[in-house]
Amino acid sequence: MTTVRPDFAIEQNWQAYSEEEHAIWRLLFERQQRLLVGRACREYLDGLRGLGVAADGIPDFRGLSDILDRSTGWQIVAVPGLVPDDVFFAHLARRRFPSTCFIRRRDQLDYIQEPDVFHDICGHVPLLMNPVFADYLQAYGEGGLKALGLGHLQRLARLYWYTVEFGLIATEEGLRIYGSGILSSAGESVYCLDDPRPRRLRFDLRRIMRTRYRIDDFQQLYFVIHDFEELFEATRPDFAPIYREVAALPDLEPTARLDQDREFALGSPNGGSRKKNWAAHQRGPSLGRKRLEDVRQDHNR
Ligand code: PHE
Ligand code: FE
Repeated sequence: MTTVRPDFAIEQNWQAYSEEEHAIWRLLFERQQRLLVGRACREYLDGLRGLGVAADGIPDFRGLSDILDRSTGWQIVAVPGLVPDDVFFAHLARRRFPSTCFIRRRDQLDYIQEPDVFHDICGHVPLLMNPVFADYLQAYGEGGLKALGLGHLQRLARLYWYTVEFGLIATEEGLRIYGSGILSSAGESVYCLDDPRPRRLRFDLRRIMRTRYRIDDFQQLYFVIHDFEELFEATRPDFAPIYREVAALPDLEPTARLDQDREFALGSPNGGSRKKNWAAHQRGPSLGRKRLEDVRQDHNR
């Protein structure tokens, strides 16, 4: 029997996974392994290797937490699903990553509305092996508690969306993925780099805070950082005055164009990507991208 505590932590109950559930993990894992070489950023692939997140099946969080803790002081906390914002942020602020335990069904390989264990563990956790990203996510948790108090959660949620979930990074070899919502989606892993339709803009904190996002389809807009140091530095200032500044400006649709926008062109030196293959993948929304604030936002629309 699992009991829900005030921090929503539960037991993963690893022994209880069925062979079918492990088999679904292996399918998802092997598919992403093939796709992500040359698409995921180096930090992600290094983290994956360091964790030894296995193709064998759904990992036991205890083993992952031990490795993570020794590397960057993070741990994984099993939760039953979406948790309230304050609980989510409080976990991050304490370097505890809340992960769901359940895995999607076989008919949901390409799309599931809520995060599942594949999205949370395979999408998010490898980057927590990177010291700079690990600090960024903790700072984000602290910033979340603060934004809640200031009433600017929506603006901070957009930052999470356009970085942690759907961020791209420019490397010498071309654009690479670091956003977990993309990393756990076969279709979007290819689309975000190779499809000419979405726009890829230089990271801009204020513009991100103004930009709405959609949760039910591939993104029409991605923001590109140069490295995690840049992201961490850009988000270090006190957001209180920035929230006020941004609140005075109109929100933007993902399709909006501003004169200040700096685009990465496909095929340009820093925006290069392989052009083959994306059409082979079925179009459909990305995996496991919905958080409680998005659900609420939907209801408020
Ligand atoms: N600097 C932000 C603030 O003052 C906190 C934060 C850091 C938010 C990193 C997001 C990411 O609110
Ligand atoms: Fe996520």
